[in-house]
Amino acid sequence: MKQRTPVYITILIILCILYIVSYMFVQDTSFLTSPYFWGTALIAAIIALIHHSIGDLIENTKFKTLSDEEKKAYLEAKKVPYFKGLYESAFKKQSASEEKDILIDHGFDGIMELDNQLPKWWLGLFWFGVSYCLVYMLSYAFTDFAHQTPEYDAEYKAQTASIAEYVKNTPPPTIDNAAYSPDNIEAGAEVFKTNCVSCHGDGGKGGIGPNLTDNTWINQPEKTLFKNVFHMVENGSPNNPTMQAWGKNGVLTGFDIQNVAAYVYHINQEQKPITPAEGGAAPQGTPANWEK
Ligand code: HEC
Repeated sequence: MKQRTPVYITILIILCILYIVSYMFVQDTSFLTSPYFWGTALIAAIIALIHHSIGDLIENTKFKTLSDEEKKAYLEAKKVPYFKGLYESAFKKQSASEEKDILIDHGFDGIMELDNQLPKWWLGLFWFGVSYCLVYMLSYAFTDFAHQTPEYDAEYKAQTASIAEYVKNTPPPTIDNAAYSPDNIEAGAEVFKTNCVSCHGDGGKGGIGPNLTDNTWINQPEKTLFKNVFHMVENGSPNNPTMQAWGKNGVLTGFDIQNVAAYVYHINQEQKPITPAEGGAAPQGTPANWEK
């Protein structure tokens, strides 16, 4: 007959699991003041005690079926403290004569299961895993080791610092050195959505401001389309203050202007114009003949 696990160990394991699961869901220890947490712990402990008492009854009944010798051996083994017994059991030799002692009380189709000693290499690996887990959990709980929040903060700081460094060392583009790049279209679309769409409409189809997808332009201060858009966003319209000088006023940086100019170039040159029949604004100004 096997020795049973003491009930305080069962309750301790239940409390640990309850703590870990609550921590996983709540992400801090505020649940320790919740009556629900302690209520659950109390009910779990009571159930464990009831379970243990039922075990006592079964143990008593089984004890009566043992021979005198077995009874003595069982009572002797019961005196050994739980952890000592656990430790010693790891070094116990298996002998064939003990087979009936290690027969587990269930079987199927005549196949019985023996509670054999686990191989030493297996046990060693198991306890190595457990101690590794413990070290990891403790360092995770009490230090910054392998903790994703401080790691994230450090990476975030390093990245913002490197971005700031890059911006500091890279002067924003001006109309003289700005260039069209398809890579900037996406970022330009964002600038357009935030600043321009209210007047120039979805996809630049026009509204309060002119249609930016067609080939007629009111303002043509530059020879190429890309530079023309850069110029207009930088300086605004000389005739109509509704189109403000986004660059000169400091609302947009040279990077933003380079991006949004790429976007306007893209919708004007690489997509079909949105005609009045499709909801676009009527052409304004004169046809443009942009240089490449
Ligand atoms: C408050 C409304 C408004 C906003 C916002 C606005 N625009 Fe304009 N935009 C206009 C008006 C009105 C004109 C026509 C100016 C004129 O008549 O000279 C114009 C003209 C232009 C032109 C020249 C078009 C032409 O035919 O000459 C470009 C290019 C342009 N805007 C781009 C932009 C971009 C890019 C943004 C966002 C950064 C933007 N606009 C934001 C109202 C606006």
